Amino acid sequence: MSSGHGRPVLPETVLVAGGAPLGGELRVPGDKSISHRALIVGALGEGTSLVRGLSDGDDVRRTRDAVAALGAEVHDDGEVVTVTGGRSLLHAPLGPLDCGNSGTSMRLLAGVAAGLAGVTVLVGDASLSTRPMDRIAAPLRAMGAGVTGSGARCLPPLTVTGGSLHGITWVPEVASAQVKSAVLLAGLFAAGETTVRERVRTRPHTEELLALAGADIEVADDGDGRVVRVRASALRPFDVVVPGDPSQAAFWVVAACVVPESALRVRGVYAGETRTGFLSVLRRMGARVGLHGGAPGGSRSGVGAVADVTAQWGPLSATVVHASEIPSLDEVPALAVAAACAEGTTRFVGMGELRVKESDRLRAVARLLDAVGAPARIEGDDLLVEGVGGDGEEGGDGSGGSPKGLRHFRFDSQGDHRMAMAAAVAALAAGPGESRIDGFGGVATSYPAFLTHLRHVGGHARVQLVAIDGPAGSGKSTVSRAIAGRLGLDRLDTGAMYRAVAWAALERGIDPQDAPGVAELAHSAVIDPGPPDVVIDGVVVTSAIRTPEVNRAVSAVAANPSVRAALVERQRAWAAAHGGGVVEGRDIGTVVFPHADLKVFLTAAPEERARRRREEPSEGVARRDELDRTRTASPLAQAADARLVDTTCRSVDEVVEEILSCLR
Ligand code: DC
Repeated sequence: MSSGHGRPVLPETVLVAGGAPLGGELRVPGDKSISHRALIVGALGEGTSLVRGLSDGDDVRRTRDAVAALGAEVHDDGEVVTVTGGRSLLHAPLGPLDCGNSGTSMRLLAGVAAGLAGVTVLVGDASLSTRPMDRIAAPLRAMGAGVTGSGARCLPPLTVTGGSLHGITWVPEVASAQVKSAVLLAGLFAAGETTVRERVRTRPHTEELLALAGADIEVADDGDGRVVRVRASALRPFDVVVPGDPSQAAFWVVAACVVPESALRVRGVYAGETRTGFLSVLRRMGARVGLHGGAPGGSRSGVGAVADVTAQWGPLSATVVHASEIPSLDEVPALAVAAACAEGTTRFVGMGELRVKESDRLRAVARLLDAVGAPARIEGDDLLVEGVGGDGEEGGDGSGGSPKGLRHFRFDSQGDHRMAMAAAVAALAAGPGESRIDGFGGVATSYPAFLTHLRHVGGHARVQLVAIDGPAGSGKSTVSRAIAGRLGLDRLDTGAMYRAVAWAALERGIDPQDAPGVAELAHSAVIDPGPPDVVIDGVVVTSAIRTPEVNRAVSAVAANPSVRAALVERQRAWAAAHGGGVVEGRDIGTVVFPHADLKVFLTAAPEERARRRREEPSEGVARRDELDRTRTASPLAQAADARLVDTTCRSVDEVVEEILSCLR
């Protein structure tokens, strides 16, 4: 699904069913962290860098748009993204850099902005606007930049006044690759040497990419942690393949471990030690997970080791997880689901940083686990999860059983992508039945193809199906378009399909009353109902189906039972292919989808309907309504369980709110 702006749109509500084993292989999106850095370091390089496998999520798109606003040229041919940069091209942007939901974009770009003369304003969405930026503001100020935000925690919007910087030695208080990266990027512009000492080794992608681009950089271990030194240097362009994102692979790995009889392989995942701690945790829990062809000695991508990760279902037991094992904490939501399925109580120690992620993930994880039936509690900065494992049936081979104690649930991720994906894994593990996950649209920030991949490995996910019926001029098209937009769903206008058949009959000289002739046409025609265009047998008829001739012919066509049978079958196939959607017509709630999640029957006063259809004579509209209502084949009727909504004298927003309230 995609919006008009080419940005991915995912449904807000997704229903995920359990009970089916997962199998096969997949590739997760390009690593988000490496993608951000490849774009930024590419923009700093003198020339054109090539990046393959860039993450297609919204977060990385923000960085891509931002480096373009800073003066780099970015091109995407679908496979390779080229970034042409260099110091002479870069400048403070004319307008604010919109980082959306992406903390990485904001923190890293602030480091670059500190080095550019002028003022850069960085803004974010509501969630990013609550995330602390003091951790980068402090070192950047110490280097000589001006950084202001709101309050003591320096919340966005962030204003960075860049210019002449000098090197510093910085010891970040929190383990954060973003802070390290912001300081190192600013260090490229600073006089003298800039040093970052980290006590906990965080992901090394900025260092790796800077080394690849020929920066004057040294990385050393000093026993206690890692020391990175950088000096002002001209960077050269590079060519890099972004490996798969291990934090996304974690969802599939955990899913394979907890869904009975599953086995999965995730190909081409970044396998550097700072990112694969979750695999060590799972191994400790007894999981059957493996790295193949990876570090050491695995294939290299220019930015570290790459490997296939395999995982297989089996019994899990509780463990203690320390924050230092997974410095970003990105895999904690997935690991918490594994803990829910394990035998015993798992303790996640020192998880305070989860409170300032895309949502308060510490509470969100506890909420999810409670919902799925594995009680969780927060003690200080620790999270304790009582697993339900061990009371399942013994597998035939003595390998353990399914986590019987889990139940299906309803969970609102509040737009946090990792919480939504963790909830999907919990639903897959919960056995037969279906869970409802709200706030799923946030998954587009990092993993737009998540649902496609879920289905590819055998999981069942669907979206809501909303049936909207009503007579001509009752507001179906406007309302269904708005509902689809708000819910992130696709929309099907079934009237356009009947109209397309009527148009084709007229075009081919078939009398609309010639029932067998029109039926044959309807059965053989290939119809694409759009959007954007309505196409029948390769001819675009989007406007041609709205003429007075078609208006007159369509009632007879729609009254033809054989035509209806052909089109109803295609309407059902459309919904199956789209996993649900908003479908408008005359018989959607009564005949096509009698089990729709919501049925709406729109009406409006006759005068208002005639006014809305002013291109059609009012007798014409009335006649068509009469024919639709009195025909024997699926007449226009309100389903017994449909909500009647009168749209007379009401705004679209008001009607849409009323309908959406029925789905909440
Ligand atoms: O919604 P519309 O005016 O574009 O529909 C054109 C005709 O198709 C209308 O006269 C009724 C008919 N129709 C139908 O019988 N069943 C549907 N599901 C949709 C439309």
